[in-house]
Amino acid sequence: MRLLVTGGAGFIGANFVHRTVADRPDVDVTVLDKLTYAGNRASLDPVAGKITFVHGDIADPELVDRLVANADLVVHFAAESHNDNSLADPTPFVHTNLVGTFTLLEAVRRYDVRYHHISTDEVYGDLALDDPAKFTEATPYNPSSPYSSTKAGSDLLVRAWVRSFGLRATISNCSNNYGPYQHVEKFIPRQITNVLTGVRPKLYGSGANVRDWIHVDDHNSAVWTVIDKGRIGETYLIGADGETDNRTVVETVLELCGMDPEAFDFVTDRPGHDLRYAIDATRLRTELGWEPQYRDFRSGLAATIEWYRSHETWWMPQKTATEAAYERSERILGG
Ligand code: NAD
Ligand code: TYD
Repeated sequence: MRLLVTGGAGFIGANFVHRTVADRPDVDVTVLDKLTYAGNRASLDPVAGKITFVHGDIADPELVDRLVANADLVVHFAAESHNDNSLADPTPFVHTNLVGTFTLLEAVRRYDVRYHHISTDEVYGDLALDDPAKFTEATPYNPSSPYSSTKAGSDLLVRAWVRSFGLRATISNCSNNYGPYQHVEKFIPRQITNVLTGVRPKLYGSGANVRDWIHVDDHNSAVWTVIDKGRIGETYLIGADGETDNRTVVETVLELCGMDPEAFDFVTDRPGHDLRYAIDATRLRTELGWEPQYRDFRSGLAATIEWYRSHETWWMPQKTATEAAYERSERILGG
């Protein structure tokens, strides 16, 4: 099988490519990635010589046409993925998440190629902290930020291409991922690398916001489950019952690093900051028989800290640039 993975030099895409090469020797993998600030060629070093890498933009119609013409399956991870960046400048979010997805869909339609669309639970907006409800496949879309609204728009394009043009597509919406190869701009790696460089972790607002953490390997095993067994045209929510508030995450990181759990600072809140995300993955579990492997967030976090400790050369070059970008956007947003 010829598989085209977009965004394979990013966090989740790179982990997906590693897993695929290890578990499915019959799959011939091509990665298409623009290598934005978030893409890292070194994340694909573990599969060097075993995949084809193409440096390019998913919004380039000629390039995408050529690659899709030679694929049996497209798995679309490429995106601008960070909420904070989308508040400072939404422009690349519209380009990649909307125009890029549209470009892929047109090529997939031309060649009738099977397509799986990777998305986020943030398309559903947020839940109150004291609400017992969780997101399901029936929850109405209500995105808050330029990131989540452009992801929501891309999901709707896929649904329309299924209905109007008979596209053979599935969609998955997953909760917050953690694990190796995640860019240091994101919450967990930012705080781990802060601690490792002697900087106090930074909590937005009161630290009470809740995210539903899932290990990236569990996300990717669920993606393959949907590709193998999912019904065409359907959406599947992916989550592993990992609801944790941000303050607890930071305290656990500090504790696992042997530090005072209270050695963090509260900083200005993110504008429009979603309160809580929570996934009900019943459809995935009951219809497709998927189960997560990482059930203990604390030990998953400890392994992730160890990964960052032993891969300083992977993340250190990003760290200074990332913190400088945070300072710039704090000035733009008046923080
Ligand atoms: P990431 O930012 O780490 O990686 C994105 C990758 O896409 C990078 O390698 C980047 O170079 C590439 N890219 C960006 N624009 C491109 C373009 N125009 N053409 C080609 N390549 C381009 O993102 P991630 O965290 O790995 O997220 C991957 C996908 O999973 C995204 O679609 C995201 O919305 C979704 N998702 C992420 C999470 C999470 O917790 N990180 C949770 C649910 C869903
Ligand atoms: P993030 O990793 O940006 O993911 P998302 O916005 O997609 O949920 O942030 C996760 C949570 O952590 C979110 O509630 C914002 C919060 N956060 C902080 O408290 N401090 C930080 O430095 C960052 C980057 C995020």
